[in-house]
Amino acid sequence: MAAEDVVAKKYASGILVGIIIIYLAKKYGKQYLINLYRLVYAWILNRFGNRYSKLMKKFKEELLSDIGNIVKTEPLEILEIGAGGGQNFKFFPRGSHVTCVDPNPFFDEYLKKNLDIFPHVKLNKFIVAPAEDMSQVPDESIDIVVCTLVLCSVDNQAKVFSEILRILKKGGKFYYLEHVAAARNTWIRKLQDFLSGIWWFISDGCTLNQEPWIILEKSGFSKNDHKQFYSPIKMKLLAPHFMGCSTK
Ligand SMILES: C[S@@+](CC[C@H](N)C(=O)[O-])C[C@H]1O[C@@H](n2cnc3c(N)ncnc32)[C@H](O)[C@@H]1O
Repeated sequence: MAAEDVVAKKYASGILVGIIIIYLAKKYGKQYLINLYRLVYAWILNRFGNRYSKLMKKFKEELLSDIGNIVKTEPLEILEIGAGGGQNFKFFPRGSHVTCVDPNPFFDEYLKKNLDIFPHVKLNKFIVAPAEDMSQVPDESIDIVVCTLVLCSVDNQAKVFSEILRILKKGGKFYYLEHVAAARNTWIRKLQDFLSGIWWFISDGCTLNQEPWIILEKSGFSKNDHKQFYSPIKMKLLAPHFMGCSTK
């Protein structure tokens, strides 16, 4: 069996186990089942994140290489929302101090592994919280916010953008790379709209048909510079992407 098929098979079995656990967790509402669900998803998303990062290397480099051009005294304070297993550490410049925010506590061990692999990055703190509530992060304390593949899963994008504006220093930058809704009236978009409910259920709250640029443009950043494009991801539902940088 080809290596890709083995990974796909493992991913599919992981999803199946995840579905059963979500079903049991929702039916019985027990904390240990919810934790088991989060544990399984941390494992799945970490594997998916590694593969995604490889596929999207060119785009991540294009987006995040700009961080190294920011002239300032070290350390550079980066906050990553939905950091997952720390797949983006390799793209951060030397001397970065990173605060990771993620509601899933089970990414902790994957973050630590990636810190060993990329020692040029220092972890300030792993905050277990949703990006809608980053009250543990002081106002105007962060130079850069990074967010990849997260906006599809947050409950309230407007709240996330207002939190980002609160914690960024004046002139601070927000970098994002997200899978998004396809153009309206295309067959991919119709399929995304149709499958969005079930997708949310099986993919840890991820939605397929978000148009984050609409809320972003109204959020109060002084400059928004972004583009939409089709990524090389084979699964057409996840291929439409959006990336860019907004400045406070
Ligand atoms: C698909 S993974 C992406 C991980 C990583 N950023 C990457 O690019 O590989 C989505 C991440 O968003 C996190 N997440 C989900 N809801 C969130 C929220 N409301 N605020 C912050 N992170 C969230 C998940 O726990 C998960 O780590």
